[in-house]
Amino acid sequence: MATRTGIRVLRLLGLLLSCVFLVHGAKIDRKAVVQPFNPKRNASADTPMQVGNGNFVFSADVTGLQTFVPFNTLSSWGWHNSSLPTTPGQTSISDFTGLQWWTHGRLVTYDQPNPAEANISQWLIANPHRINLVRIGLNFQGNAVSEDDLEDKSQSLDLYSGLLHSTFSLKGSKVSVQTAVDPNSDTVAVQINSTLLSSGALGVFFDYPYATGQNKFDAPFVGLFNATTNHTTSLKAQKQSAVVQHDLDATTYFTTVRWVGNASMTGPKPSTHRYFLTLNQGNRFSFTANLAPAQARTVVSAQSVFDSSAAWWHSYWNRGAFISLPSAQNSDAKELQRRIILSQYLVTINEAGRDPPQESGLTNNGWYGKFHLEMVCWHSLHFGLWGKEDLLERHDSIYSRFLPTSYQRAREMGYEGARWGKMSDPSGRSAPGEINSLLIWQQPHPFYFAEAEYQRRPSNKTLQKWDEVLTASADFMASYAFHNQSLDVLQLGPPMYPASENTNPNATVNPTFELAYWRWGLDIAAQWKQRQNKTVPHAWTSVANNLPPMPVENGTYVIYTGVPDMWNDPTLTSDHPSMAMINGFIRPPPDFNFTIFNNTMNRIYQTWNWTESFGWDFPMVAMAAARLGDFGRAIDFLLQPNFPFDDVGMPIGGTRVPTPYFPGSTSLLMAVAMMAGGWKDAPGLKFPADWDVQAEGFKPLFF
Ligand SMILES: *[C@@H]1O[C@H](CO)[C@@H](O)[C@H](O)[C@H]1NC(C)=O
Ligand SMILES: *[C@@H]1O[C@H](CO)[C@@H](O)[C@H](O)[C@H]1NC(C)=O
Ligand SMILES: *[C@@H]1O[C@H](CO)[C@@H](O)[C@H](O)[C@H]1NC(C)=O
Ligand SMILES: *[C@@H]1O[C@H](CO)[C@@H](O)[C@H](O)[C@H]1NC(C)=O
Ligand SMILES: *[C@@H]1O[C@H](CO)[C@@H](O)[C@H](O)[C@H]1NC(C)=O
Ligand SMILES: *[C@@H]1O[C@H](CO)[C@@H](O)[C@H](O)[C@H]1NC(C)=O
Ligand SMILES: *[C@@H]1O[C@H](CO)[C@@H](O)[C@H](O)[C@H]1NC(C)=O
Ligand SMILES: *[C@@H]1O[C@H](CO)[C@@H](O)[C@H](O)[C@H]1NC(C)=O
Ligand SMILES: *[C@@H]1O[C@H](CO)[C@@H](O)[C@H](O)[C@H]1NC(C)=O
Ligand SMILES: *[C@@H]1O[C@H](CO)[C@@H](O)[C@H](O)[C@H]1NC(C)=O
Ligand SMILES: *[C@@H]1O[C@H](CO)[C@@H](O)[C@H](O)[C@H]1NC(C)=O
Ligand SMILES: *[C@@H]1O[C@H](CO)[C@@H](O)[C@H](O)[C@H]1NC(C)=O
Repeated sequence: MATRTGIRVLRLLGLLLSCVFLVHGAKIDRKAVVQPFNPKRNASADTPMQVGNGNFVFSADVTGLQTFVPFNTLSSWGWHNSSLPTTPGQTSISDFTGLQWWTHGRLVTYDQPNPAEANISQWLIANPHRINLVRIGLNFQGNAVSEDDLEDKSQSLDLYSGLLHSTFSLKGSKVSVQTAVDPNSDTVAVQINSTLLSSGALGVFFDYPYATGQNKFDAPFVGLFNATTNHTTSLKAQKQSAVVQHDLDATTYFTTVRWVGNASMTGPKPSTHRYFLTLNQGNRFSFTANLAPAQARTVVSAQSVFDSSAAWWHSYWNRGAFISLPSAQNSDAKELQRRIILSQYLVTINEAGRDPPQESGLTNNGWYGKFHLEMVCWHSLHFGLWGKEDLLERHDSIYSRFLPTSYQRAREMGYEGARWGKMSDPSGRSAPGEINSLLIWQQPHPFYFAEAEYQRRPSNKTLQKWDEVLTASADFMASYAFHNQSLDVLQLGPPMYPASENTNPNATVNPTFELAYWRWGLDIAAQWKQRQNKTVPHAWTSVANNLPPMPVENGTYVIYTGVPDMWNDPTLTSDHPSMAMINGFIRPPPDFNFTIFNNTMNRIYQTWNWTESFGWDFPMVAMAAARLGDFGRAIDFLLQPNFPFDDVGMPIGGTRVPTPYFPGSTSLLMAVAMMAGGWKDAPGLKFPADWDVQAEGFKPLFF
């Protein structure tokens, strides 16, 4: 008996041990995967190295500051309005009336630039714009020093701690700089070691630009440093701290600087907004600069920012999901792993903010600093798939915040419910634009966020959180679908633009992707009501059940119903191949035919003009290929030559959009999450059979 019990105990112990061993053995050493991809440079480049916290990013050149290249310091909260036009009749926002287009027999007003109101139209497009808060750089105390004068330049970003290290020599004296941003406040921390500090040959400058309504390719560097008379700054210096107040028209914010040691802040230099922070003795110097709409009461020390940054990033890398690809044996796997790791870092600092991100995050201004509501899914859903839903929940309240303006938009256009805008500022106003006013695929996005959250967290709280938003979205979707009496068919559009924005809006009707997305959204809307034991509005089910099937021509899905010979039209076989989105990005509707979808994908592979595609197109096609079981092709699309990432992981925009174009990074993370966890009917890894992939923490996509 004793022996038998002993054996049992031993067996049990063995089982326990093997469990512990298995769990432990299966656990990926994440630090060992992350750190080899730490970006390193020995010269400044077109893109910056960055530190940030989702709401605030400091972009640095090779010195770890903004010494030679005026990279930006952007935030969620820093915005500015230029003065309104003075053209008679166009001096206030209410003077903008937009344009009326005939829409199914009635005149509907669209927020489009009106040639008779050109100035106020343009003002509304360009205002408010996001501002560059400050430039902070090394000051060589009057000596003309250029980057070429520095020797032994070396810079590396430790992804695992968020600390940026930069070193160089100037005339034989070594300078070493460490830069980081506080995860908990918009504070940049800097530590400098150099004998040049004590000799007085090295200090720090702060400079403040005016704001301009430049955008896209015009604005890699945001703001004007030479429009000094258009704005004011003032300094209040104390013993260990100083405050610079910056006023640009109605915008005011503060830089609160705190340092340790015997230093002083002076300025501005005449006819500039340039201030100087100079150490009076010693070879080591550290300071922090907090930027905020109000003067900070207390500012954390540099050491405490370094510690918080290291702790935050340690936790970031060790929570949620993670994937390790066979980088040692396979150069494709290594490059994909590099893109994954660098994308995670960059989109977390650039995109996990209070508002949804602009396409270029907090790096530079793409569309005046505004964000696009049709892009929110691509930008943010991946956070949830990687087990970092707290980061997307920083801004998913956007829908409830924008409800009042979206109800108003729908009402003014003669529809029920709430119509979501497009190119937005934090107030919810959508910039005038033909495409902006005619795009509809942003409308079902709240269903995606809501359903993804319900799958993670099925609770009454989740049901309540989204109920009004979903009801308002669905009411609009049902009333937008027009019943054409003579054809006895429901129609989405015309006029409308599909996701690819490259058709004639007056001819575009019932596009493949939008039909599918409308169906899915309305199905979730109904399910949401059922879960709450509420009645499903008849209009929703009626529209969902009666939308026409997706258009098929010559055995393939085509961009919209009735499009003439699309596969031989070069303007329609470029831009976003949105038919690919119906299986992978979303759940396909009941009329989905697998053979026809496969034919469609084959046509896309054969005919698409990839030089005209950008960003999310490649991961989107990869997701569709993976759903067809073609995992090798999915990988090929994630590494497609027209989809490059630079040495620090910045997604290159190309000729059509400026760099960085972060939807490339976020869609890559979404595709990888889907390939790591599989989906509802086919859970598990979706990688080529000869790839030795380790993945942990991914769940199958819920559809
Ligand atoms: C900078 O780094 C690159 C790549 O590592 C190397 O080829 C180049 O020689 C380095 N330049 C200097 C000036 O050290
Ligand atoms: C810009 O002007 C609009 C309209 O008056 C206003 O709602 C918004 O708050 C202003 N933004 C800034 C940053 O001044
Ligand atoms: C579409 O119709 C509107 C007026 O309803 C017109 O202004 C616009 O030029 C048309 N666009 C095209 C591409 O035909
Ligand atoms: C500065 O020197 C101190 C003391 O040696 C060291 O702890 C710190 O890491 C150095 N900082 C930088 C930026 O090199
Ligand atoms: C200010 O700088 C901008 C861009 O650097 C330049 O185009 C402009 O001519 C300058 N204006 C003045 C008044 O110097
Ligand atoms: C600065 O102010 C002057 C005078 O009001 C104005 O003419 C100029 O356009 C302003 N500059 C900028 C960049 O807004
Ligand atoms: C939701 O609330 C209902 C009624 O209060 C309760 O019966 C049900 O268990 C709750 N469901 C969940 C998922 O919490
Ligand atoms: C809905 O009704 C079912 C069955 O009566 C019940 O189990 C569930 O808790 C109800 N849910 C809510 C949210 O009231
Ligand atoms: C079907 O394909 C043929 C051959 O490319 C083309 O001539 C025809 O116009 C296509 N039909 C449609 C409706 O696109
Ligand atoms: C799918 O489409 C193909 C080609 O048109 C057709 O032969 C097949 O019957 C369809 N499958 C279903 C399930 O409808
Ligand atoms: C899709 O089409 C390709 C090319 O005709 C074929 O090789 C492949 O087997 C098809 N895939 C599926 C899943 O039917
Ligand atoms: C792709 O589009 C570009 C730009 O419109 C054009 O120059 C090129 O010829 C197109 N390539 C093909 C294969 O159609």
